[in-house]
Amino acid sequence: MPFVSRVPLCDALIAAEAAVRANVHATPWAGELDVDDDLGGILESVYGAVRTHDQSWSHASLDSFHRPDRALADAHRLAAAAFGVDRTYFVSTGASAANVIASTAALARGGRVMLDPTAHQSLHFAVERDAGEVDLMATVDGRVDFDAAVDRLSDAVARGRPPDLVIVAASSYDGRRVDCASVLLSLAAAAAPHTRFLLDDAWCAIHTFAPQTRGPGPSAGVAALRAHGLGNPVLIVHSAHKTMVAMRQAAYLHLSVGNEPDLAARVSQSVFVHHTTSPSWPILASLDLARELAVRRGAQTVGRALDRAADLRRRIDAETSFHTVALDPGEHYEADPLRVHIAPPIGLDAEQCRRGLWNDTGVHLSRVAAGRLVAATTIGVGEAAVDALVDGLQRAGRGARGRTGPAPTTFTSAAAFVVAYPPGVPIATPFDQESTVREVGAPAGAEVFEIDPF
Ligand SMILES: Cc1ncc(COP(=O)(O)O)c(C=O)c1O
Repeated sequence: MPFVSRVPLCDALIAAEAAVRANVHATPWAGELDVDDDLGGILESVYGAVRTHDQSWSHASLDSFHRPDRALADAHRLAAAAFGVDRTYFVSTGASAANVIASTAALARGGRVMLDPTAHQSLHFAVERDAGEVDLMATVDGRVDFDAAVDRLSDAVARGRPPDLVIVAASSYDGRRVDCASVLLSLAAAAAPHTRFLLDDAWCAIHTFAPQTRGPGPSAGVAALRAHGLGNPVLIVHSAHKTMVAMRQAAYLHLSVGNEPDLAARVSQSVFVHHTTSPSWPILASLDLARELAVRRGAQTVGRALDRAADLRRRIDAETSFHTVALDPGEHYEADPLRVHIAPPIGLDAEQCRRGLWNDTGVHLSRVAAGRLVAATTIGVGEAAVDALVDGLQRAGRGARGRTGPAPTTFTSAAAFVVAYPPGVPIATPFDQESTVREVGAPAGAEVFEIDPF
């Protein structure tokens, strides 16, 4: 079906704004707010254009969120085509919620799950609530042993107890990407035909749109399953705001229905149950726009980001006392070239440097992993940011010398889940026998939360 517009939801939102004379439902941000001059300036600088876009629209004025058949439906279809899947759903409450929506749709209460322990907390919590049986995949050095997982799947099938759902963390903050095509093929070949797969690819949505970065992604995994005649349904979550030009909390939930066309209805049902009843239309429209930008310019933009990452590596190694380290991704994983790992010189503590970078030079890096600073050179990280980071590291290399970092945080916890944020991956869970050992070293710089199951 030909589409009149390439950004149908954005067009519809702008048209609805132009048409509206009164929106008598919830606070109209574009209306007459009784704000004094000082706060008016702050309001404008904090909310900007969102002030005019953020209204409560309905089916009559724009489209239905839960049963779209106009602009939102067109935007969903365009996104599904762009990502190479059967269906895409827009979520305006974050990838955390998209994960819960996906896992609830894919797992009947009391079902069996095979879970990647490096998955995001949202998936652990959903599984803890819903699953009757959880088989935690084995890891080696923080990476899943997928060969062992294939063996365990074959074994489970032989025992007549295959998992209903297999959950895989397809991309990590630190830049580890599962080679989805080969891993999904091996797992699906060993699993039962009805076993569903959920791939959380939160960190690598934009990667789908450039030949240099497309390879390991879930879209390739779906294509590989189809090419080999494997009909296992696959659900994929992208936290669009992390790598695309989408607003915070914008997430895509994709579905390849495989041999289970009815799964789409379960996903819609799960969206209905878990999504806020007040979706943010600016966030939804930003998903439409982000997809169109990615289709038109993704390859070029990612290419530029790759050049920038290479430039950053070269400059850090040449111009600072820090040095870059190539991530060893491990078997069945690939390294994301848009992540730069930066090791401090001997005597400097990476976490101290990270804090110093912010306090002294306004450069924000959110994570230290394995004693290295992790820089995410996603699209939008420009030359000025590279200059600022190099400058900050030069200063940190001079000024912070001799300062020692804090002792690694250790604590004793009786909680069932211990979660370090960033990146929100549990470091102890009730599924893991070893987590009865309650002494947990918190990663440098992370906030640690102890969460009991309800
Ligand atoms: C792997 C992974 N999945 C999901 C999420 C949740 O994304 P959001 O913050 O958009 O809810 C995160 C957030 O950091 C993440 O790292």
